[in-house]
Amino acid sequence: MAQIIDGRAIAAGLYEQMRQEVEELDARYGRRPGLYVIIVGEDPASQVYVRNKEIAARKVGMVSEAIRLPGSTSQEELLSVIDSLNRDPAVDGILVQLPLPSHIDKDTVIAAVAPDKDVDGFFGMKSGLTLKAGYVAPCTPRAAIHLIRTTGMKIEGSHALVIGRGELVGKPVAGLLLGENATVTIAHSRTRNLRDLALTADIIVAAVGRPHLVTGDMVKPGAVLIDVGINTLEDGSIVGDIDFEAACQRAGYITPVPGGVGPMTIAMLMRNTLDCYSKHIS
Ligand code: GUN
Repeated sequence: MAQIIDGRAIAAGLYEQMRQEVEELDARYGRRPGLYVIIVGEDPASQVYVRNKEIAARKVGMVSEAIRLPGSTSQEELLSVIDSLNRDPAVDGILVQLPLPSHIDKDTVIAAVAPDKDVDGFFGMKSGLTLKAGYVAPCTPRAAIHLIRTTGMKIEGSHALVIGRGELVGKPVAGLLLGENATVTIAHSRTRNLRDLALTADIIVAAVGRPHLVTGDMVKPGAVLIDVGINTLEDGSIVGDIDFEAACQRAGYITPVPGGVGPMTIAMLMRNTLDCYSKHIS
């Protein structure tokens, strides 16, 4: 039976570590890290995410504020808010919650965030598979790597299969694994021999959003399985991209959904904010 990678417990440990780190940094530099989250409009799911980010930041002792703008905000107004945060030395991290209303061009807005305050890590991995030196990686890919590391499995030289080639998770996670010297395969919806590829994978990161895409018979015995998928079934239950029960019979380690990657993502946002702060004080 696979060992469960408990994302909630691992995140809780990180929060405690970061809380202490923030206290030490405040004592030393007389300033706490500042995280500012901008949300435009009333999307209920986004409101919950933003609230959770604010709560997490305060939990670790950061200064945090959500800037709530009406859905009618113009792109120019939004860019001007970003510009003033870019210039404010008390601001270490800026996150513009997505999605944005359709009259606003997402790419223009994301590009307006100062790269050294881009806690989403969009700038850090903007081009291709390489993390730009000195910049932070996106939160969910960073969470996936952290969870793999907690298993003690050696990433270097392993075969890592990333299923999904999205800009937010698939590509950056593949880039980070490559940076850790894994041999990386990126599979996607057109991949023909997914089962054969999966059976040779020491690590699988599934990030496609299709329930039970990875079945038990695709798992190499002892493999580390990281499930980034969040799928709501007709009965309202939430499952990942991996058939958890079946995969447990063969995997060495597996993340549950919920309770795996999800809780770690906001913890990594805090880590990214701390990393940006470190660059600002040095
Ligand atoms: N909306 C859903 N996920 C994300 C994310 O990772 N970053 C931002 N900025 N918005 C999101």
